[in-house]
Amino acid sequence: MDFMSSHPSTPLAPGRAAASARSSLFDKCGAFTRADELKALGLYPYQRVIESGQDTEVLVNGRKLLMLGSNSYLELTTHPAIKARAAAALQRYGSGCAGSRFLNGTLPIHLELERRLAALVGKEAALVFPTGFQTNTGVVASLVHPGEFVIVDKYIHACVLDGCALSQGTLVRYNHNDMLDLEDKLGRLPEAANKLIITDGVFSMEGDLCDLPRITALARAAGAQVMVDDAHGIGVLGPGGAGTAAHFGLTGQVDLIMGTFSKSLAAIGGFIAADERVINYLMHTARPFLFSASAAPASVAAVLAALEVMEREPERFERLRENARFLKEGLDQLGFDTGRSASPIIPIVAGDWERCLRVWKFLQEQGIFVNPVLAPAVPANRCLIRLSVTAGHTRAQLARALDALALAGRRFGLLRERT
Ligand SMILES: Cc1ncc(COP(=O)(O)O)c(C=O)c1O
Repeated sequence: MDFMSSHPSTPLAPGRAAASARSSLFDKCGAFTRADELKALGLYPYQRVIESGQDTEVLVNGRKLLMLGSNSYLELTTHPAIKARAAAALQRYGSGCAGSRFLNGTLPIHLELERRLAALVGKEAALVFPTGFQTNTGVVASLVHPGEFVIVDKYIHACVLDGCALSQGTLVRYNHNDMLDLEDKLGRLPEAANKLIITDGVFSMEGDLCDLPRITALARAAGAQVMVDDAHGIGVLGPGGAGTAAHFGLTGQVDLIMGTFSKSLAAIGGFIAADERVINYLMHTARPFLFSASAAPASVAAVLAALEVMEREPERFERLRENARFLKEGLDQLGFDTGRSASPIIPIVAGDWERCLRVWKFLQEQGIFVNPVLAPAVPANRCLIRLSVTAGHTRAQLARALDALALAGRRFGLLRERT
């Protein structure tokens, strides 16, 4: 079931078409039954209501679940110092900016945050957007013009694809992390054309890293620019959480570094970092920056505080790495297929959509919160149970998760024969 991509646009159900001479815009809504079908099967995994903070344990339907589905990698959303800074900003500036950054929505803390983010990732300047999604759509649509090319990994996030569509540039997709395919695709493009290669730093579903050394080498040879979507790399990889480019020692070879506040940085919002002249251009042309309200004071202050906590408590990075290693090794020893994960995102390959949702449900019954990943985010026969660990998980919690996962693995035939 291609649940997420279903756009039942055209044919109306025969009975309906006959009953009405004229079609309605909303016919597609009536024809959209997939969510209802999953609910009827007791396998609808979305919009679960979490009645507590984003912690290692969360409350769902009054029941405590062990959280293995959060992107709060550094476990900062509940940090007392961060909550206090957000509360102070709320008191000082109010609950919103009531306008875009371009006009009446720029506060001193927006500018301070941009300076700090540029310094973190090692670029001249940065620009803060209301969300990570808007950052990518805005940056790509603004920088790429008709006649220019955007070359993306097949597993790139949806917002980059939307940015490409808005840009009216030509989209070229290469197979996931397949450098021969990237080389081949680049070789087919007009030599003189402008080109932007975009990759995730850490891929959001599989948890594997991009091959940045090869990508930057191919880009140099082809005269292309490189952009890294580091939504899942900032705060996770590199010295001080500086991200994927710093992890590989290739900051100077990456032209644009994008990050979001909705994962490690404990809030909501996004940013792009680049050379001063590029940021100046985006500041005056990127439509979500110009025409959408600026990030709220409490969010901006929370991110500033999160950056300080990252400096003050570097042991969080080590705990995160150790927890990811412990869970991945445990899963591999049990015989799960965890793909090429090299980050706190650790997927379990679960087969088709139905088996994946049955595993998801079983784990929830065992008290574990995980996220199922269905097509088109992944191929239809390679649906995933996406696990993510944080710096806050204890060994006892992860051991409990492994026990529940072992049960699920045996029950649903997910464990490989050990040789
Ligand atoms: C790789 C990637 N890029 C961009 C985004 C969008 O970020 P945000 O949630 O801040 O809008 C996400 C979030 O899901 C992501 O995983």
